[in-house]
Amino acid sequence: MPDNILSFNRAQIIAVANQKGGVGKTTTVVNLATALAVSHKKVLVIDLDSQGNASTGLGCDLNKRIQTIGDALKNNAAIEDTLYATEIENLTLIPATTQLIQTEIDLERQYDRLKEVLFTLRSKYDYILIDCSPSLGTLTLNALTAADRVMIPLQTEFFALEGLNHLIQTISSVKRDLNPHLEIEGVVLTMYDKRNNLSEIVSKDVRQCFGDTVYDTIIPRNVRLSEAPSHGKPILLYDIHSAGADAYLQLAAEFLARQESQEEAKVA
Ligand SMILES: Nc1ncnc2c1ncn2[C@@H]1O[C@H](COP(=O)(O)OP(=O)(O)O)[C@@H](O)[C@H]1O
Ligand SMILES: [Mg+2]
Repeated sequence: MPDNILSFNRAQIIAVANQKGGVGKTTTVVNLATALAVSHKKVLVIDLDSQGNASTGLGCDLNKRIQTIGDALKNNAAIEDTLYATEIENLTLIPATTQLIQTEIDLERQYDRLKEVLFTLRSKYDYILIDCSPSLGTLTLNALTAADRVMIPLQTEFFALEGLNHLIQTISSVKRDLNPHLEIEGVVLTMYDKRNNLSEIVSKDVRQCFGDTVYDTIIPRNVRLSEAPSHGKPILLYDIHSAGADAYLQLAAEFLARQESQEEAKVA
């Protein structure tokens, strides 16, 4: 079957990754996914971090995480039984618990397990966003093997680019050995503090290094974004008038515009 038929009506799978913790991966997954769902896209979020922060942030408390991504990866549950309907129309979640630590050990060197498990879901969504853990271990390699694209959040601080070589090298080896189609979707600058000169300098540095892959949209540091998860709500439900909500709506619009121009480039 030609490739274009296979890719018809198939979700774009996007891994949101950076092995540094606290750079805004989970915040970006939860809020970009919500903004896309509000734009009438069908979106699935996969929590692939044993800390389960994306699950909490989307209102799936521990007692509601009956079947998780860990169960699906270990073949203890059908993937369809792990789906959790969030408060937002068009936004579904596959949650995670600390059980995922053991799952990662059990997977050993199996890097294509997530891809296999997601196969039947691809026709049901427009976008599948994977929230990766702060490591480049087996689970993140599974995410990169399953993904079409990687989105890299970078905290706008002095050491933003430090350690990034390692991520870029990992993406290259996955592309070589496991997933030849993998591309970088974009770099998102997060937690930008406009009162701080350093943010401006770092943002310029990152653009010099990554060029056009860096989104024009910059996510500002915004306290409402950090409060929202403790209420189990994405920013659009917690405070739609906040600067954080604005920023993630803008990021979603830019993301969709890029998707469109990529589609057009493919057709041309
Ligand atoms: N733009 C932002 N403004 C303020 N706080 C933020 C912002 N983005 C993330 N945070 C907070 O910073 C912490 C780390 O963000 P998180 O998204 O969990 O990072 P990661 O998933 O990369 O570890 C969390 O407490 C989160 O609420
Ligand atoms: Mg996280």
